[in-house]
Amino acid sequence: MPLIETGSIRLRQFAPKDSPLVASVSDDPLIPLITTVPSNPEPAELEAYLARQHGRFSQGWGYSFAIADRDTDDAVGQLSLALRNLSFGRASVGYWIVPAQRRQGRARAALAAITDWALRFDQVHRLELYVEPWNEGSWRTAEACGYEREGLLRSWEWVGDQRRDMYLYSRIAG
Ligand SMILES: CC(C)(COP(=O)(O)OP(=O)(O)OC[C@H]1O[C@@H](n2cnc3c(N)ncnc32)[C@H](O)[C@@H]1OP(=O)(O)O)[C@@H](O)C(=O)NCCC(=O)NCCS
Repeated sequence: MPLIETGSIRLRQFAPKDSPLVASVSDDPLIPLITTVPSNPEPAELEAYLARQHGRFSQGWGYSFAIADRDTDDAVGQLSLALRNLSFGRASVGYWIVPAQRRQGRARAALAAITDWALRFDQVHRLELYVEPWNEGSWRTAEACGYEREGLLRSWEWVGDQRRDMYLYSRIAG
């Protein structure tokens, strides 16, 4: 796993010490619906979550990073770079920040860091983000990092038991 450091944040591999962070977002209204964070934060579930993040790269899915404070190394969230469409020149990004650490520029710093890092690779021509229209915090994060809104994908995917529309955002290499 690469270690990516910039400004006040570090993107690193998840570690056992990050279990309490994952447990703390198990009752978030959105995060367990759009990730594999368990809604039942039993020790075995948390261990399985961490193991899944470690397996993402070896299984060809992409990268799952813990977003950590650079000074303390305490994790504050998660960021993924999915590479399943890399053969088409596309990769996609997703992220979450624990509620207590929101509105401090953490997501913006993490997204800026992975964007700069990923666009250095010749194979990556396009980075994509899918954001629900109500999720202003997320699309503002995207726009702050130079992503442009391309349109609304209607009834794009399941979030929980509901079909949801998504804004499609992208940043293009060069
Ligand atoms: C969306 C999320 C990642 C934002 O994280 P954050 O660390 O609070 O974001 P930042 O502090 O870096 O803020 C980035 C921008 O979004 C804005 N913002 C953040 N939260 C906001 C909110 N709730 N409402 C409106 N704007 C918001 C900030 O003001 C900032 O805008 P600016 O650059 O124009 O000043 C966080 O709220 C979260 O984890 N939500 C749940 C999971 C989620 O929605 N993930 C994304 C799925 S697409």
